Amino acid sequence: MARVRARTHDIDKAAGVLRNGGLVALPTETVYGLGANAEDPAAVSRIFQVKGRPASHPLIVHISSAEHLDDWVQDVPATARLLAEHFWPGPLTLVLRRGRRVPLEATGGLETVAVRVPDHPVALALLSAFGGGVTAPSANRFGSVSPTTADDVRAELGDAVDFVLDGGACQVGVESTIVDATGEIPTILRPGGVTHEDLEAVLGCPLAVPETSHIRVPGQHPSHYAPRAQVVLVEPEKVVAEAKVAQELGHRVGVFLPAAYADAEVEAHAVVAVPGSMGAYARGLYGFLRELDRQGCDLIIASLPAEEGLGLAIANRLRRAAGPRTIV
Ligand code: TXA
Ligand code: MG
Repeated sequence: MARVRARTHDIDKAAGVLRNGGLVALPTETVYGLGANAEDPAAVSRIFQVKGRPASHPLIVHISSAEHLDDWVQDVPATARLLAEHFWPGPLTLVLRRGRRVPLEATGGLETVAVRVPDHPVALALLSAFGGGVTAPSANRFGSVSPTTADDVRAELGDAVDFVLDGGACQVGVESTIVDATGEIPTILRPGGVTHEDLEAVLGCPLAVPETSHIRVPGQHPSHYAPRAQVVLVEPEKVVAEAKVAQELGHRVGVFLPAAYADAEVEAHAVVAVPGSMGAYARGLYGFLRELDRQGCDLIIASLPAEEGLGLAIANRLRRAAGPRTIV
């Protein structure tokens, strides 16, 4: 459970900011979000301005409980209800048919809307105090690394956000799993904090796993979640050798050293020891990328974990961080 730093006073203040059309950065279990009143088109538009995000990229509406789902969407299939029941509050986002309360500004003009109930005491307290839905993308500038602490948010957005609620470090560390639940058979649009194995276990049928290289929906671009440094992906056994070569070529090299090679001697400017546990890796991922940026690395050499469980979401983010520059 995340440490709760925000006090009742802060929650009330944040709810007031939302009511007045302002922007609040809020902690969730995945990453920090940049929130606005979902029913206030002007406030929602400000999110896009602050992030520098194209207006066609749809946002997620955060609500306080699955009980309120029907206030925001229509025609909910039985499978979607089953998923909401099992995984909410939690890192699962359901795409469903848009209800009338949701302005088109929040959905990038789509007739569907993404909804989730975050599993974070501060987010839930804010949503209850506010009483409505909060649209929130990750609280970073468009294309860059998502924030997992309140300090990351301040570094990314500074004064552009009206209030930052501090809820400690995010416990999941990668964004929610997005599932298109409009049809009878749900489809994963973005791998995330709920694994596809967990989804399949609840649904009792196999699900398609998304191809990273293919842009399926607006807002899922191949170059995303990217640090300033160029990320290069190589096979795990080549990480140490590639780092040496790059260092000799004059790069300031940051290395994601795979757990299996933890004892290797590495020639690099900065080294991150990748945790062996996928939970710890996901929790640390964005912080590691930020840290190597802070240390002035211009090149990051990393490898992909096995693409199962949370490893699938980590690999997805690393591929996007590497963007079109991937050499695997
Ligand atoms: O964990 C998360 O999901 C975090 C926290 C803050 O909740 N939020 C987040 O939001 O990652 P954002 O905006 O960075 O990513 C949301 C993605 C969009 O890029 C888009 O791909 C997808 O959700 N999305 C939203 N509405 C959609 C829709 N109607 N149809 C398909 N995809 C949609
Ligand atoms: Mg994002």
